[in-house]
Amino acid sequence: MDDLSTIRREALGAVEQAADLAALDAARVAALGKKGSVTGLMKALGALAPAERREFGARVNQLKGEIETALEARKSALSASALAAKLANERIDVSLPPRPEGQGTLHPIGQVMDELAAIFGEMGFSWAEGPDIEDDWHNFTALNIPPDHPARQMQDTFYLPSRADGTPMVLRTHTSPVQARTMLDEGVQRMLADGGSLRVIIPGRTFRIDNDATHTPMFHQVEGLVLDRTTHMGHLKGCLVDFCRAFFEVDDLPLRFRPSYFPFTEPSAEVDIGCSWKDGELRIGAGDSWLEILGSGMVHPNVIANCGLDPAIYQGFAFGMGIDRIAMLKYGINDLRSFFDSDLRWLRHYGFSALEWPSLTGGLGR
Ligand code: PHE
Repeated sequence: MDDLSTIRREALGAVEQAADLAALDAARVAALGKKGSVTGLMKALGALAPAERREFGARVNQLKGEIETALEARKSALSASALAAKLANERIDVSLPPRPEGQGTLHPIGQVMDELAAIFGEMGFSWAEGPDIEDDWHNFTALNIPPDHPARQMQDTFYLPSRADGTPMVLRTHTSPVQARTMLDEGVQRMLADGGSLRVIIPGRTFRIDNDATHTPMFHQVEGLVLDRTTHMGHLKGCLVDFCRAFFEVDDLPLRFRPSYFPFTEPSAEVDIGCSWKDGELRIGAGDSWLEILGSGMVHPNVIANCGLDPAIYQGFAFGMGIDRIAMLKYGINDLRSFFDSDLRWLRHYGFSALEWPSLTGGLGR
């Protein structure tokens, strides 16, 4: 019986002294495991006489229960103190001053896109986008530029391998293909049939084989499209005059509409804004010089028909302008290539606060 009380003392002592959960488990195995001391007593029961076995068996069972209870208690004490230690160690001092983080800035192109959204949003335009990799039909054919049309040479196109079904693919040379995508949209067609008007701006990346101080192989355009049953050239003029004055923040900015040619508009006009040069510095506003900033015109009836709408019913205007170009003009940036150099010093100088959202009432630029 000495045996029993020794085993009891040792087992309960080991449980009591276990400093962590691993030690506690070792104590459990030492007593109750396959080769444990209490398990050994159980095995020895078989060799005893029946009367002795009953009496001794009851005591071994009681010991087993006692050890199990002690294990449970020690386990919850250990986890409670582990949690308390964790809470104490990982305490966060919320009163510490924050580490100073450098604040990033918005790229001028992102800024100008936000300004476009603010101005055209106010005029009731919504925002649409289309794919950079475009098929030949949307980029050219739908826009009244059939395969053998000389106007295809106006745009230095990056041609891509054709799709498996033979469709010729290009990097879009302008955002105008999204005009076609928008007019073909079922929801838009239903809205137009219900007498609504379509007003959308479409900003995005465009690509042409060209590279110098004012041209990069990738650049940005924003397309505008207005279509309904009554929109005419006067609306085109009014819309673009309002836009340019708001964007360049010059209330009396003069605009010049010059007759031009685009296959997808008729009549077509290029738009210049007034400016002057003083000591090599550009000033935007009434002056003795002009800067071309965009192409525009009344959507060609062939384009309307190509997009499954009846040109006898629907009419409207479209325009396209270079986002990089108007950003350079507005913010006095000379080299377009610097837009894409990702030079942090340049971004810090020309970048914009991300915390000030441009709006017509709160101010557009800086
Ligand atoms: N897509 C023309 C270009 O890239 C611009 C344009 C758009 C002209 C819409 C007229 C109407 O040059």
